[in-house]
Amino acid sequence: MAPMTEEEKAARIAAAKARAAEIAAQRAQETPEQREARLAAAKVRAEAARTAAAPAAPQSAAPVAAATAVAISPQEQFREAKVAQKQREMAVAQAGPGADARVAARREAVVARPEGKAAAPAVLAMPLNRREFLMYAWSASLAFFLAGSGIGTFFFILPRFKAGEFGGTFSIPVTQFPAAGAAPVPNDEGKYWLVRTDQGYNVLYKVCTHLGCLYKWEGATNRFECPCHGSKFQLDGTYIEGPAPRGLDRFKITVVDASGNTIAQNDAKGDPFQVNDPNAIVRIDTGSRIQGKPKA
Ligand code: FES
Repeated sequence: MAPMTEEEKAARIAAAKARAAEIAAQRAQETPEQREARLAAAKVRAEAARTAAAPAAPQSAAPVAAATAVAISPQEQFREAKVAQKQREMAVAQAGPGADARVAARREAVVARPEGKAAAPAVLAMPLNRREFLMYAWSASLAFFLAGSGIGTFFFILPRFKAGEFGGTFSIPVTQFPAAGAAPVPNDEGKYWLVRTDQGYNVLYKVCTHLGCLYKWEGATNRFECPCHGSKFQLDGTYIEGPAPRGLDRFKITVVDASGNTIAQNDAKGDPFQVNDPNAIVRIDTGSRIQGKPKA
């Protein structure tokens, strides 16, 4: 027999591929009943071939073997498994998008079981291909990155002010306040002025409401004056004149008695209020600033 030329080989391979594609397309469209019938026919053919190849058996054993044996050859099993897997992939490709469905379908190729047992579904474990592996690895990396960034951001923006430092709460006896109408008492750590007028107690923020300079108390004029642009304010923080857009800001304050029970606190406008308990403690929250009243 003469050896095949390269052209003959190529033509033969192309014909085989075309035939395989044709068979796969037919099987992709067959119904479950058609598939069952085809598998059954293949088993019968395989059994007939095996019987023909085997030595003659006693006449009485033939009906039993024909009724129970459904074994198919290893080659046939392999072919059936490959075809079933091909069908699954083509069906998934026709079904359109749906990554989960595709992955699940590609991993489950149901084939007839060997060894003469009744036909039953079996699952072929399919390893991850390169694309799936990269997709999972990329997704996991992104999830870790986002989780790490979120946790870092959360702790970064979390307030970390302690009591006794600016941004936190200062607790002082009410006796530290000056007498009504007297000069205010400054506190540099808390950046506030303790003030007291006939209307009551208040705590003013030390920063000017114009451009942020530190204003001063001028005893000669009995008012606050800003050295930067000349804004002036009354003892209770009310705007008098200058480029400042409003009166002085004040802090949220809560007054508690010796037992820690709240007995007074300023309102949303930050107006002064009276405290009659000489043992009271004033808690100044320098993290809660109330804007001064706009100038008239
Ligand atoms: S910063 Fe105080 S008046 Fe300008």
